Amino acid sequence: MNIRSRLRDRLQTALEGLAPAPDAAVDLAGLAEMVVPSQDPKFGDYQINCAMPLAKALKRPPREVAQELVDRLQVDDLCEAPTIAGPGFINLKVRDDRLVSLLQTAAKDDRLGIAPVAHRKQYIVDYSAPNVAKPMHVGHIRSSVIGDSIYRTLKFLGHNVVGDNHIGDWGTQFGMIIYGFKHFRDDAAYRANPVAELSRLYRLVNQLVGYFEGQAELPKLRQKADAAKAVLAAAQTIAPTGDKNVDKKNAQTLKKAQNDVESSAKAVAELQEKLAAMDADPAVAKLIAAHPKIGAAALEETAKLHSGDEENLKLWQEFMPPCLEALEETYRRLHVTFDETLGESFYHDRLAEVAEDFERKGLARESDGALCIFLPGQETPMLIRKKDGAFLYATTDLATIKYRIERWKPDAVLYVVDHRQSLHFEQLFAAAKLAGYDACDFRHISFGTVLGKDGRPYKTRSGDTVGLKGLLDEAVERAATIVAENDERNPEGPQLSAEERKRVAETVGIGALKYADLSQNRTSDYEFSYDKMLAMNGNTATYMQYAYARVRSIFRRGGVDIEALRAKNIAIELNTPAERQLAVSILRCEEALELALVDFRPNQLTTYLFELASHYSTFFDQCPVLKAPTPELRDSRLMLCDLTARTIKLGLSLLGIDVVEQM
Ligand code: ARG
Repeated sequence: MNIRSRLRDRLQTALEGLAPAPDAAVDLAGLAEMVVPSQDPKFGDYQINCAMPLAKALKRPPREVAQELVDRLQVDDLCEAPTIAGPGFINLKVRDDRLVSLLQTAAKDDRLGIAPVAHRKQYIVDYSAPNVAKPMHVGHIRSSVIGDSIYRTLKFLGHNVVGDNHIGDWGTQFGMIIYGFKHFRDDAAYRANPVAELSRLYRLVNQLVGYFEGQAELPKLRQKADAAKAVLAAAQTIAPTGDKNVDKKNAQTLKKAQNDVESSAKAVAELQEKLAAMDADPAVAKLIAAHPKIGAAALEETAKLHSGDEENLKLWQEFMPPCLEALEETYRRLHVTFDETLGESFYHDRLAEVAEDFERKGLARESDGALCIFLPGQETPMLIRKKDGAFLYATTDLATIKYRIERWKPDAVLYVVDHRQSLHFEQLFAAAKLAGYDACDFRHISFGTVLGKDGRPYKTRSGDTVGLKGLLDEAVERAATIVAENDERNPEGPQLSAEERKRVAETVGIGALKYADLSQNRTSDYEFSYDKMLAMNGNTATYMQYAYARVRSIFRRGGVDIEALRAKNIAIELNTPAERQLAVSILRCEEALELALVDFRPNQLTTYLFELASHYSTFFDQCPVLKAPTPELRDSRLMLCDLTARTIKLGLSLLGIDVVEQM
C-alpha cells in the first residue's frame, strides 16, 4: 500500500470542505501533494506542509488553518493523532499496528503489497535507438538503461507498455558503408566478422569525408579567428571611463573577446592538426588523393538506396542481419529488451504520404523548394521534404507518430533521447499537435552527456568515442577483481568456484555501470568513473548487491527456512527506533516507484534504495538477528531482513539490475 498517496487523498478531502472555501485560483490538488516523508523521525513519519501557503491564500493565521485541517483530517485508521509544530507543520506518525499488518501483507505477496495502478494507461517508450552499423558507444548506455528502467517500472505498476527501438537503419551512414564496401572492403575480414569490417569501412569513409569537410571548414574557421582578433584589438583600445558600470561592462567585453580569440585559435589548431595527421599517414593520404569526391559519392549511394536501387538495396539487406545480431548481443548483456524494433527503414514508404498530407491540409508549405511546417511561436520551420525530394529525420518521426497512434492508441509516448535533440522534439510535438494528435502526451525524456575526468565528453585517449563493448568488458573485469578479493577475505574461506566468480562479476560489473547512470539526475551530465561505480560503500549497485547478499548469507548461516517464515504471519516487533525506521522505509517502496514516474526519473528509485540500505545498515549494527534474545524477536528480525532484501531485489530489477546470492 502507498501510505503517502492514502494520506494525500485524505488531505484532499479535508481541504475541500475548508471554511472560508479557498477560491478557484487555489490549487487544491497541488496543496494535497504537500504530504512528504519527514526529514527527521522525531517529527513522525510524514509531514503535511500546506497549511502555510493555504493560510496565505485564505488570509488567516497558519496555525489556525493547520488546526482546522487537523480537525477535518480523517486518518485515525492509519495514524496516531496528528500534531502541529512550528508555524503550522502537521506531523503524522503511522500507527505501529498498521505498520505490522502492512509488513505481514507484503511478506506474503510476490509484489510486496504494491498494487497495480487503478487507471492503467497505454504507453510507448522509444529508447536506445542507435544508428545501426556504427559501433555503439558510451552515449548509447543512457538511452538504453534509462528507457528500460522506465519501461519496467511502468509495466510493474500495471500499465500497458510498448517498448520500441526506433533504430537508425536507413540513414546516411549506409551510403558511407556502401561506398566503402564497393571500394575498400577486405573480403576475408568481412567473411570472418562482417560487423567489424562494416564498422571499419564506416569509420574509414567517415574519416575521408571528414577530411574534405575539414578542408572546406578551415578557411571559415580562420576567418572567424581573424574576426575574433579584430574584435579583441578593438576592445583593447577602450579606455576607462570612470563610470563603474560602463567599465565593468567593458571589462566583460574584453574578457569575452579574449576567450573568443583563444577558443577560435584552438579550433583552427585542432583542425589543422587533424588534417596534418591524415596527410602524414601515407596510406590515408593515398586514399585522399584517389577519392576527392567521396562526400558527394557517399550521399549518392544513400540516395540510390532510398530510391530502390537494386544493388544497394541488396547490400543493405545483406548488412542488416549481422548488424542487428551485434546489437542484440549488447542488449542481452545489458538485459535490455524491446517489444518492437521498428527502425527508420520501416517507415520509408510512408514518408511521401505524410508530407503530402501536411501539405494538403495546409499545415506545410513550400519555401525555397523545400516543404516546411511553420510552427506557432517558432522561428525556424520544421523541414519535412528537401528541395531534391529527400525526406528527413523529422518526416520519419511524423510517420512514426501516425503509425503508433493508429496501431496502439497510446495515452503517452516517451522519447528517451539525449538533450541535443530538444529542438527536434519540441518541433515534432508541436507539429503532431497541428496534425490533431493532441490527445496523446508526447514527452522528451532528455538526458545529459557522459563526461570524462577532464569534464569533456568521455573519449578514449586517442580521442575516439568509447565503444560500448569495451566499456562493459572493463567494468566486468574490474568487478572480477573485487569479487575475488571479497571471496578470499571471507572468514569462512572462499565460497565461489571460478565459474561462479565469473557469473557474479558479470552481474556486478554490468549492474555497477547501469546503476551509476540511473542514479544520476538524468538531465545532468555526469563523470564516468569505474572506481566510483564499483565502490562497495555509497550509492552504488555494488553496495546494494552486497547488502542483498549479506541478508541471504544470514539465512544460510542460520539455516533459516525463509519461505516457511514468510507464510507464518510473524508479528514483527518495532520496539527500537532502528527496527521501526526500517519498517517504515520498507513500506515506502511503492511511494518511491510513484515518484520515479512523476517525471520519469529512475534516480528517485536509487535514492530510495540507498536510504533503505542505510536504514538496514543501522538496524543490522544495533539489532542482533540470529543471536536475538528471544526466538520471537529472531523471527521478527529475520522478516525485516527478508523484506529489505526482497525490496532491494525488486527495486534493482526495475532498474534492470540483478542480484547475486553470494559475492
Ligand atoms: N537514431 C537516433 C539517434 O541516434 C535516435 C532516435 C530517437 N527516436 C526517435 N523517434 N527520434 O540520434
